[in-house]
Amino acid sequence: AQTARPVVLIAEELSPATVEALGPDFEIRHCNGADRAELIPAIADVDAILVRSATKVDAEALAAAQQLKVVARAGVGLDNVDVKAATQSGVMVVNAPTSNIVSAAALAVALMLAAARHVSPAHAALRNGEWKRSKYTGIELFEKTVGIVGLGRIGVLVAQRLAAFGMDVIAYDPYVQPGRAAQMGVRLVDLDTLMAEADFMSVHLPKTPETVGLIGADQLAKAKPSLVLVNAARGGIVDEAALHDALKTGRIAAAGLDVFAKEPCTDSPLFELENVVATPHLGASTDEAQEKAGIAVAKSVRLALSGELVPDA
Ligand code: MLT
Repeated sequence: AQTARPVVLIAEELSPATVEALGPDFEIRHCNGADRAELIPAIADVDAILVRSATKVDAEALAAAQQLKVVARAGVGLDNVDVKAATQSGVMVVNAPTSNIVSAAALAVALMLAAARHVSPAHAALRNGEWKRSKYTGIELFEKTVGIVGLGRIGVLVAQRLAAFGMDVIAYDPYVQPGRAAQMGVRLVDLDTLMAEADFMSVHLPKTPETVGLIGADQLAKAKPSLVLVNAARGGIVDEAALHDALKTGRIAAAGLDVFAKEPCTDSPLFELENVVATPHLGASTDEAQEKAGIAVAKSVRLALSGELVPDA
């Protein structure tokens, strides 16, 4: 009889490169991790689970796992994994922290440009047989001030890309040294200053108890009425009700959103506003990012299950 191979559960759609990179040493199973009724029994007897952002690897799921050794997040954010509970039960958590940063940064810029130039409503009108040019007059990014909230790996890439558009870049990030920001041509400011000075802003923070609701009614009240706000990080960092109110009343001009407090999100009052352009959490959804994420976590899973040290990416 064949010796049993360690079992790897793939709980979300991942690039085919993932399975290739895992190689023949594992039994691969699949489940729909977003469906709890599938996930809980499926996780019971596997050695590793691979997820993106739709599977909640929380304390309940971890408690159901009898032989789990590693949770692998094929992406950056770990807000869907209870890292503390995993660590307490001796389960290693790995992610792919650089795999999709270029793609995430590009989508943030895409949403900013789309919002500034009314790409989405103009497209919808044109499909509807309307050739409307003055109605969709936009604004330039050139020589405007953009505020980056969170100058980490993704925020830095967004700052570099927007600098190339001729924007003045300011950023709020209490963990970054002003000297390091200055080297990148970025001026560090506090959040209130950012809110007051920004013509455009883009959020690049992880979702944590400290960041949820960080941009709420108080902050939006400080903004210029012309502000274009982009959130391609995590839903809920910008309070959705406050944002809706600000967009509806003209307190700010427009928003580009890729993420929502509760996902999937197909029904939001935000979607009814013409000054909102929205996508369904597509920041990491490129061929390249998915391939990089899949290969990176496959390598980490191989190392972890063979008892070797998993290096930081
Ligand atoms: C991430 O944190 O990497 C992204 O949200 C992308 C994903 O869901 O895979």
